[in-house]
Amino acid sequence: MILLLLLSLLKINDIKCEVFWSAPNFPDLRGPTMDKCVTLLPRNKQQLFFCDPDHILNNTQALQLNALLQEVAVGTPCHCQRRSQCTSGNEGDEKASDQEGHGFIVSIAMVENLQMPMHTPSDQQIKNRADRFCKALEGRWALGDCGNSVIVFIWRHYGKMAICPARLAEKYITLNERISILSRANKYALTQDWYSALNFIIKEISMELNGEPEPRFDTGTLSLLLSVGLAVVLTLFITCCVCAFRCCGNVRTRERRKSVERAVDNLRNSVIRRGSQFRRSISRSPKMLNPTNVFFGDATAV
Ligand SMILES: *[C@@H]1O[C@H](CO)[C@@H](O)[C@H](O)[C@H]1NC(C)=O
Repeated sequence: MILLLLLSLLKINDIKCEVFWSAPNFPDLRGPTMDKCVTLLPRNKQQLFFCDPDHILNNTQALQLNALLQEVAVGTPCHCQRRSQCTSGNEGDEKASDQEGHGFIVSIAMVENLQMPMHTPSDQQIKNRADRFCKALEGRWALGDCGNSVIVFIWRHYGKMAICPARLAEKYITLNERISILSRANKYALTQDWYSALNFIIKEISMELNGEPEPRFDTGTLSLLLSVGLAVVLTLFITCCVCAFRCCGNVRTRERRKSVERAVDNLRNSVIRRGSQFRRSISRSPKMLNPTNVFFGDATAV
């Protein structure tokens, strides 16, 4: 009886055939497993940007979203250093459409469920897992040639969404913008309307990617700015010190010179005074009269 129950349970599980995805076993948009992403591949396989192996959306919706993502790719500017990084692709039949180039590559990954080490994860654990999966997939797919790619991830089982930009894209769609977009898309997620949610998210991301980059300070720029600032402040400080020292020194020597001059003057005056007294006392004595001496003595005394 119990065996039968177990067997039926196993059978139900088999029918459901639920796959718990992880980043390494998720289909690769540009690899041999890409045909698992959608039921019907687009004509140009380089223009598949949508991967939903659990088929949460039907094929019509998938192709509509893929067309939207294609528009984002050709409609956003190329910010790579070399233009050739924005024209990479296949050299086959569809070369003409490929040569017009692309800007940012935005793609979508949808899963029913992810592998989790615990049965009842907290909301924070779910969020962390979603972010980690999204980041890992960003690295594995590596769609842009210069960090110009973004992945939008949907985890249906928990109704979680995540947006993971690569290095360059992160300057155009910052953390605050991502939080804002996801919070506004949440009204669609609550009713499980994933098509509308993704439609909204793609349009918002496209707008941000067409805008100006945020002057985001990474630690490298910040430390460089800090050290330059410190150097400027130090130089100013030293210059001020040298100036102040010199000025003070000048004032002091000038004062010293003045006081020396004053002392010399005093000395000379007292010498002259004494000299004239002496001469007067001499001149009073008639026998030692010296007219030139008296004249000069009086002249210097004046
Ligand atoms: C796909 O799903 C949408 C929304 O659920 C529905 O309106 C549409 O008819 C479906 N298309 C196909 C081909 O099943």
